[in-house]
Amino acid sequence: MQIRFSDSRPAGDYALVLPASGQGDDKLEGLGSDLDMVKAAMRRQRFEGKARQTASAWLGADNGRQLLVLGEGDGDAKAAEALGATVSAQLLTSGETHAVIDLSGTEFDADAAARLALGATLRSWRYDRYRTKLKDKQKVSLVSITIVGAADGAEDRWNNRYQPVAAGTALTRELVTEPANIIYPASFVERVQQHNQDTGLEISFLGQQEMEELGMGALLGVNQGSVREPRLLVMKWMGAGGSETPTVLIGKGVTFDTGGISIKPAAGMESMKWDMGGAGAVAGAMRALAGRKAKANVIGICGLVENMPDGNAQRPGDVVTSMSGQTIEVINTDAEGRLVLCDAITYAQKEFSPTRIIDLATLTGAMVISLGHEHAGIFSNDDDLAEDLIDAGKKTGDHLWRQPLGEAYDKLIDSPIADMKNVGPRPAGSITAAQFLQRFIEGETKWAHLDIAGMAWSDTAKTNYDKGATGFGVRILDAFVEDELEG
Ligand code: BES
Ligand code: MN
Ligand code: ZN
Repeated sequence: MQIRFSDSRPAGDYALVLPASGQGDDKLEGLGSDLDMVKAAMRRQRFEGKARQTASAWLGADNGRQLLVLGEGDGDAKAAEALGATVSAQLLTSGETHAVIDLSGTEFDADAAARLALGATLRSWRYDRYRTKLKDKQKVSLVSITIVGAADGAEDRWNNRYQPVAAGTALTRELVTEPANIIYPASFVERVQQHNQDTGLEISFLGQQEMEELGMGALLGVNQGSVREPRLLVMKWMGAGGSETPTVLIGKGVTFDTGGISIKPAAGMESMKWDMGGAGAVAGAMRALAGRKAKANVIGICGLVENMPDGNAQRPGDVVTSMSGQTIEVINTDAEGRLVLCDAITYAQKEFSPTRIIDLATLTGAMVISLGHEHAGIFSNDDDLAEDLIDAGKKTGDHLWRQPLGEAYDKLIDSPIADMKNVGPRPAGSITAAQFLQRFIEGETKWAHLDIAGMAWSDTAKTNYDKGATGFGVRILDAFVEDELEG
């Protein structure tokens, strides 16, 4: 989607979008001879001016033009973002090629107008690469949006603050959408490199041999049944200069999760192509931070593996030694995410001594049972960190809900043969997974774990995305960095 800002409405064909706070909004007076008809249309479509509400009409002036009246809601940045998203959702395949959103006379400030552009861009994202037989009617028609009458500074705010976030979210969604024959550990790294050709993000990775030398037996055990080589992707953005200790983001990147020898049922297994949603979110967040030149030191690490059954795959009952030296009895090879994350967590601490670690993972089905598709779970050893992330979620619409940790849960993963086992009993499955990760957090390191299993993919369209990959997590991380690390 091409976004433009302008002082006046352009010439030519376009659909006109006018925000309104209700049926009697004075801003509509400019419609002149069409006003009565538009008011009737709003009445009959029960328009009240709430965010996401729309009323449509066909203007007689200018040889006919589609008009969309959109609810102004609370007049804040969130309402503006929803408005932009609604324009894209309504017009994307409508046949209209251009929309003009006239903000003259609205309450929206520069930040809100830029968030409007963000909403419009996020909601217009699609991935049609493999759809070679789309009918014309199914194809995207809307190619550009002109925002007229925005407050001073809106265009700058869009270009320098939110456009990079849209680009980061697009990267995440692309990685999550691509099937596992296209995106596997090595190609994940390459795709991230392609999307960062001029961002200045420093990208490197460890291969199989380097990870063997470091003793990452837990991560490598998961990949043992795969013909693909694993990767540990490291993305560095040191925007605050050398002296400040970094924040590390860690993502679970299981490019396909069959369950391994503890194989999953066939029905729905294809959805496990998005078991790299945590790694995708970390890569997208790093793309966003580098793109907007965030004044913060942030390092993104993705543990990239494929969990396959094979003659060489690890077995239930195997004992592996993690990079930390702690041993793990692998009771269930389908509880693989924690095995990948634990070595990434140890590596992060040994290599970068971070102040805080935030990990994101599509870790447990139990998380989807508890919170559904409305919140991701957040587990943390630090109340302030948890609160800051929850706040970032509220601000951006990627919602988090705090979950408990405690010694009684921790005991459930003690093993009779090793230091721990990789699964507890069925109850509290998301919590015991988090307890497992916490056993690898050293000293004073602050840590938060986001279980995004219910959020990385959506079977229904929502305000900011169509059905499919959501990009969940990118905006939480981006907002957290801005609010807590910059300035
Ligand atoms: N990737 C899955 C979790 C998952 C399930 C994510 C459904 C999204 C939707 C994870 O690796 C897994 O298989 N977890 C097991 C753990 C169990 C064996 C303790 C689960 O949740 O069933
Ligand atoms: Mn699994
Ligand atoms: Zn998994």
